[in-house]
Parts: sequence; structure tokens; C-alpha cells
Amino acid sequence: MMSKTPPKSLKGRVSTPGDKSISHRALILGALAEGVTNITGLLEGDDILHTAKAVEAFGAKVKQIATGQWQVEGVGRAGWRSPKTPIDFGNAGTGARLIMGAAAGFDIQVSYLGDASLSARPMGRVLRPLEQMGAKFNSTDDKLPITQTKGGALTPVKFTPPHASAQVKSAVILAGLNTCGITELTETHLTRDHTENMLSAFGLNLTRTPKDKGQVVTLHGPATLKAANINVPGDPSSAAFLIAAALVVPGSDIIVENVMMNETRTGLFAVLSDMGAFIRADNFRRSGGETIADLHIRYSKLRGVTVSPDRVPSMVDEYPILAVIAATAQGQTHMHGLGELRVKESDRLAGTHALLIANGVDASIEGETLIVTGGPVTGGARVKTHHDHRLAMSALILGLAAKKPVSIDDSSMIATSFPAFSALMAAIGAPMEMS
Ligand code: S3P
Repeated sequence: MMSKTPPKSLKGRVSTPGDKSISHRALILGALAEGVTNITGLLEGDDILHTAKAVEAFGAKVKQIATGQWQVEGVGRAGWRSPKTPIDFGNAGTGARLIMGAAAGFDIQVSYLGDASLSARPMGRVLRPLEQMGAKFNSTDDKLPITQTKGGALTPVKFTPPHASAQVKSAVILAGLNTCGITELTETHLTRDHTENMLSAFGLNLTRTPKDKGQVVTLHGPATLKAANINVPGDPSSAAFLIAAALVVPGSDIIVENVMMNETRTGLFAVLSDMGAFIRADNFRRSGGETIADLHIRYSKLRGVTVSPDRVPSMVDEYPILAVIAATAQGQTHMHGLGELRVKESDRLAGTHALLIANGVDASIEGETLIVTGGPVTGGARVKTHHDHRLAMSALILGLAAKKPVSIDDSSMIATSFPAFSALMAAIGAPMEMS
């Protein structure tokens, strides 16, 4: 796929597709609960479809009623059963880590697989706390394929994840649901809190006590979840690409509707405001237990900024696209504390740097800091995406600001999180070409 360098400004009003993190959680909690959970606005990306198949294999009944509208009949007190065949998570780290946590609570055996990208990612970060609780796993180097050889009858733990990670936090909480006693999870930096929020929609109120920059979550298990109606709000991490397009193409003026505004996810919007972007949120309302708004974005002359490591948890997936935006700003942008980017769908720190350099942008990595100097973007490169959807979309957006179109080696991964990407880009006036 290739960007066309658009001759004119981007205009239009588009609606953001469902949030990936919330879509995974709706299916998983629905599969654990008693009764039928109705979901609207579910993201029908490949990652989510893998999670839907996975929870079916554990005994839930999953049905698509219409586009985005799904029903999950959970197993309730009967609990998850051992799947007949290994569970394939595809590219989905969230699906893998959350389901490994939930399944550890049950006395079942299960094997897990993933694609080449997921099989290279570290899983020890979820295996360690689950093992502390008494679950047992077989793996080589803590990587997929992994087999759970023992689950259930777990002992509650007090655990502090060594990395700021919502996936690790959620895995421990989900394991704690079927564990007798008090599971306590301390995070030093608050990460996305959708698991905590959604559990309350399923009838379970966790205790959440703010602590420094993080929180302590306590859960009294075992807990029975009651089916819920979940309306999935729009994904701010997908909206980021539309917003970026408008910020890098002169004269653009667009509205991106239905964007979730949960503060654990909106770090990018704050940074863009600091850079001088016109980005205004209107029409705040509630949807699926979260606040959503419509964002009005106008092309703006941006200036480089320093982004503190404290921002990372609230915009961990947005650094590749921020780096692309920074390439068009005046001056330097320093993004600090990006070590976790090395273990995403690819080494995103190296991949972002490489895609910028290949297209004539002045960028460097110093330790865990990415430095981008804004200026004219030459473009013209074919970018290696390393099975990483966010690198793919970031490269295509860079192409909109470049003198020569930018192409990518593989566009198939975009469907993991944002299947409507090219349709929505076309709707605002930036159609992509197949190359
Ligand atoms: C996610 C958490 C983040 C994020 C991922 C989705 C989630 O990962 O990068 O895309 O839904 O919990 P980490 O928990 O590894 O930071």
C-alpha cells in the first residue's frame, strides 16, 4: 500500500471504530459471566476475532448479530473448560495476556500459539505472577507456544508489576476473579483502567486506592460476574492516525467523532496541544461506562516539545505517529522513556526511527529517548513494517507530508486494529493506493 501525496487539504467528518482494548475485555468478561452479554460497536479487527474464537474454545457461545453487534453467552459458575485444540491468538498481545490470566483461574489444560510477531514477545511478565499464584506453564524462554499444565485453586498474591502494563495488571486481576481471598495489585504508574471500569459494569466493584502516580487495586475472590450490555466507545489510538493526517496536511479541517476520552488513553492529545495543535473536544457524553467526545482538528503549525516519561502509560501506542507528526514540526521533539516500545508488535523504537530516516527525516535514538528534528520530508521509501500495524499506518501518514509517496512492504496487519483505515482516510480526502 502507498500514500498518495494529496494535492489538497483534508476535510470531512468521520466516526472512530470501536476501541481494541475494550473490545477484547467485553468478550473475555462476557465469556466469564453468568448470562448473555450484548455488545455494540465491537471492533471487528483480526485481533478481536481471535479473542472471540478463543473464548468460544473455553465454552462461551459467541454470536455476531449484525455489524459490530455481538452476543456472548458466558459460562458463569461452570467455569472455563479445557479447549480441544491450541488457542491461536494471531498478532494479539492483549488477547493473549488477558486470556492467559483468566484461564489460570481454572483447573484446565490449554496450549497457546501466536504469529511470528507475537511469538517473539515476552510472556514472562504474565507467567511470573500467575506462577506465584500457583499456576504452571511449559514454554521455551517464556515465549509462545506456551502450555498451561496447571490452573485453578490459586493462592491470592500481592503483586507490583515491574513495568507499567495494563495487560499484566489485567491478567492478575482476571486470575484473581476465581481465586479465594484478596488479590492486591499495585501499579506505580496508572495504566489504562478499562478492566477495572468494565468489571463494575459486570457487577464487581474492585477497591481502587490512588497511590503516588499509580493505584492499589484489591479484589475479594471468588467473584461472580453478571452479564452486561457494553457499548464500545471509539478507539483514541485509531483516531490518532486521522488526527495526525489533518495536522500534517496544510489547510485540513476535520471532525473525528466518538473518541474515548479516558485520561489513561489521551496523553497524545495533551502533547499535541502543547505542540500548538488546534484540537478541540466537543459534545462530551457517556458510552459504555467511558466518556466520549467529538474532536475538531485543524492543520496547525506545530513546534517541537519534550515529552516526559510520565506520559508513556497514557500514550504508549501513540509514539510512532507522534514521531511522524514531530517530523513536520518546527524544532526538535524529545520523547523520553520509550524502553517498552522495544517489546510491542515489533521493536517499535527501532522501527519508528528506521521509517523516519528512510524518508529523509533527521531522527536519532539515545538510550530510551527518540529525538526527531522537524523539517521538509523527502519520502519515497518503501518502509519495512515488521508485522506491526501501527508502523504501517504511521508510514502511510508520513507519506501525506512528504514530497514523494511513501509505501509499505505489507498492509495486511492494519486489519488487526483498524480495518476501516483506508476507507476513513479516503473519506477525509486521502485515499491510499495499492502498490
Ligand atoms: C493494552 C495495553 C498496552 C498497549 C496495548 C493494549 C491493553 O500494552 O500497548 O496495545 O489493552 O491492556 P502493555 O500493557 O504491554 O503496556
